[in-house]
Amino acid sequence: MSRPISLGIDLGTSELKAILLEESGQVVAHAGARLSVSRRHSGWSEQHPEDWWQACLQVLDQLRLEQPEAFARIGCIGLSGQMHGAVLLGDDDRVLYPAMLWDDSRAVACAEALARDYPDFAEITGSVPMAGLTAPKLLWLQHHEPQVFSAIDCVLSPKDYLRLRLSGERLSDVSDAAGTLWLDVARRTWFEPMLRATGLSLSHMPGLVEGGAPGSVLDSRAAIRLGLPAGLVIAGGGGDNPVAAVGIGAINAGDGFITLGTSAAIVAITDHAASNPASAVHSFCHALPERWYTMGAMLAGASCLRWVTRLCGVADEQTLLEHVQAAVPLEQTIARSLPLFLPYLAGERTPHNDPLLRGGFMNLGHDCTPAMLGYAVMEGVGFGLLDALHAVQSAGASVEACALVGGGARSAYWAQLLANILERDIYTLHGSELSACIGAAKLGFVASGRGSALLQSGMPIKARYVPDARQRAALRARHALFRGLLPAARALHG
Ligand code: XUL
Repeated sequence: MSRPISLGIDLGTSELKAILLEESGQVVAHAGARLSVSRRHSGWSEQHPEDWWQACLQVLDQLRLEQPEAFARIGCIGLSGQMHGAVLLGDDDRVLYPAMLWDDSRAVACAEALARDYPDFAEITGSVPMAGLTAPKLLWLQHHEPQVFSAIDCVLSPKDYLRLRLSGERLSDVSDAAGTLWLDVARRTWFEPMLRATGLSLSHMPGLVEGGAPGSVLDSRAAIRLGLPAGLVIAGGGGDNPVAAVGIGAINAGDGFITLGTSAAIVAITDHAASNPASAVHSFCHALPERWYTMGAMLAGASCLRWVTRLCGVADEQTLLEHVQAAVPLEQTIARSLPLFLPYLAGERTPHNDPLLRGGFMNLGHDCTPAMLGYAVMEGVGFGLLDALHAVQSAGASVEACALVGGGARSAYWAQLLANILERDIYTLHGSELSACIGAAKLGFVASGRGSALLQSGMPIKARYVPDARQRAALRARHALFRGLLPAARALHG
């Protein structure tokens, strides 16, 4: 086909997005459909895979209607998705139970049991067991839903459910598989002892390919429904963080970036599996061969700002940000008297590995305003990222200047504050809101034998934020105070 387009689909937690990408790197069109999360019990977080598929159909129908010419040129497909979710299939590919998501913490005790019983596995699987990762969830099902558990024929990651509906095939890629805790991350193959530890075997796992490998093809049923030709290549794809890395061009050892969305993470690309289980970082496979990444993952990122905006009854985050900017200008030394915020609204992964930890404000006075709380929240998320950065460095991964992507990248104030806190240059990129979709579409091109030049290309820099040395002493002192609050927060759920 001349001038083929790649269709990139990213299954997020709050939205499914898709784009049409030219081989030149130009995004022709994008569309999205909102998704909601069901929280039946405290700590549970679930979605119905059928809702993902319906959202996917809705988005693709919209793209076809709005861009018929470009849609007709689709020559390949790439997938990205939220990681660590468990989609449970029976032998007829029926979904047996709602998908348990990455921020579901019901499997706390199971994660602890796996860590206790198999202390040596973490070096192989790239992370200590954590409730949000997939394997402990299956142990929870074995204990609490034995009938569902015994009917399981296959466990898929979220984006691989979309692949199943598109191609009829049970297949995953190594970057998403790494997030299950069932992968030997250095070897990029399933790790049977961990499967056995959770009552499963290799037969429950999908086949594995690399992210840019031609994994599967669009089957005739999906092709008819979507108005696309059967046989289109569907790339292996990957988990949202590694695929977003491909999207922004973070593909070589030493590249680093921060995602500041619902959750937050600091990611360093490596050329070997660089883990440090003791500091609760993840060392997972990148979506490209012979690449890995070390990640410090926070469970709550920009969602903390959304939360405090609502809490203060402020109309929207932009309005709160304006108040913060006026009340706490970054050109002046940050006052020690400002409130401090622990960003653990959903527990924490790196470096604490404690899903029961909760957040808090400290140092409040009668004079405390929503703007001061807003500042404390942005700073607290920054301090969480600093802790995550130290954990990533403890694994031997190096992080220099960092790209900032995700919804939080829209705020120049937050970006400058992060540069000051992390003592590193931070830069934002044009088009990074779609980085996971773009990465997925790039992998689609790679799988169809094109796009290797595209893979090398990054995104144009929008703005660069240089650390302000005048803030260093004040922020270091406030970070020490922030760290000092941790024992009290831990004791609250002791
Ligand atoms: C990564 C993580 C989240 C999810 C949801 O480890 O938990 O980024 O992938 O987006």
